[in-house]
Amino acid sequence: MDDKTHGVDEVTGHRRMRRNRKTDWVRRLTLENRVTVDDLIWPIFIVPGENIVEPIAAMPGVNRMSIDKAVEAAREAADLGVPALATFPNIEMALRDETGSEILNANNLINRATAAIKKAIPNIGVITDVALDPFTSHGHDGILREGEIVNDETVDQIVRAAIAQADSGADIIAPSDMMDGRIGVIRRGLDAAGHQSVGIMAYATKFSSCFYGPYREAISTGGLLKGDKKTYYVDPANGTEALRDAALDVEEGADSLMVKPGLPYLDICWRLKEAFSLPVFAYQVSGEYSQIKAAAAQGLLDEERAMMETLLCFKRAGCDGILTYFAPQVARLLAK
Ligand code: PBG
Repeated sequence: MDDKTHGVDEVTGHRRMRRNRKTDWVRRLTLENRVTVDDLIWPIFIVPGENIVEPIAAMPGVNRMSIDKAVEAAREAADLGVPALATFPNIEMALRDETGSEILNANNLINRATAAIKKAIPNIGVITDVALDPFTSHGHDGILREGEIVNDETVDQIVRAAIAQADSGADIIAPSDMMDGRIGVIRRGLDAAGHQSVGIMAYATKFSSCFYGPYREAISTGGLLKGDKKTYYVDPANGTEALRDAALDVEEGADSLMVKPGLPYLDICWRLKEAFSLPVFAYQVSGEYSQIKAAAAQGLLDEERAMMETLLCFKRAGCDGILTYFAPQVARLLAK
């Protein structure tokens, strides 16, 4: 036995993993993944009015912004190199109804925001969520008839809303409602309306998750929602079903796939990336964000390190990018 190694080399056969971890330069050389500003999509919340920057209590550091302020924020994000924004509206309660009809208004809050942002900063991508929940009086993503979310009627409304969003300048439509058949119908609808170059980012596998809690405060649907979304979102227990759902979106013409929430579902990110040759994005949702913020505020976690580590893990799991409320903070950090 070699005294110096105490027999370690006998066990490892001289294979020592730590050689590549020894110095900063060798660690940099062997680094497999990194987070760059090009990986970021920044979800923002829009409110009616002017000159409004309104904190969201459940999401420390995130604000609802009126369109003028959102344009300023978009400019700042573009200057930092953030490729795209994802927009979510918080509309007046008076405009919310049983069927979410305001989503069809070509001049609604979200469409006005898209037009204003694209006019001011044409080179930042605008990804619009096309789902009924910000527009319905019951907070569901579909039309509610006798206690049931009706699929086909909802899809019919969503495709019309998607065309209106594309008309106002949206670059990518991201349907988050999980109705069956929507990707194909939206693709055909966009094409027929002359929007062949507008993309579709499918919320391919959206899970029925508790991690959306803070978002529901952000768009004021928390108090409205009766029951849950289990008849249309995927059960957190089901990975194979998620894969099948994503396969349908791919067949129907999705340009990229999203997994939501993110961190608890990294296995799904990986499986989608392996199964389909399409870009995969993870949505680090409100609850994931607030969890880090709350732990950091209590001194239990280092916020910056937790933020960067979680984003890095999305990359390792095969994601091409991440929707994250941390986007501007990350971009600023990376620009240092
Ligand atoms: C609904 C929608 C949700 C989110 C984005 N779009 C939540 C829900 O399904 O209730 C969640 C985003 C987040 O939690 O950050 N169409």
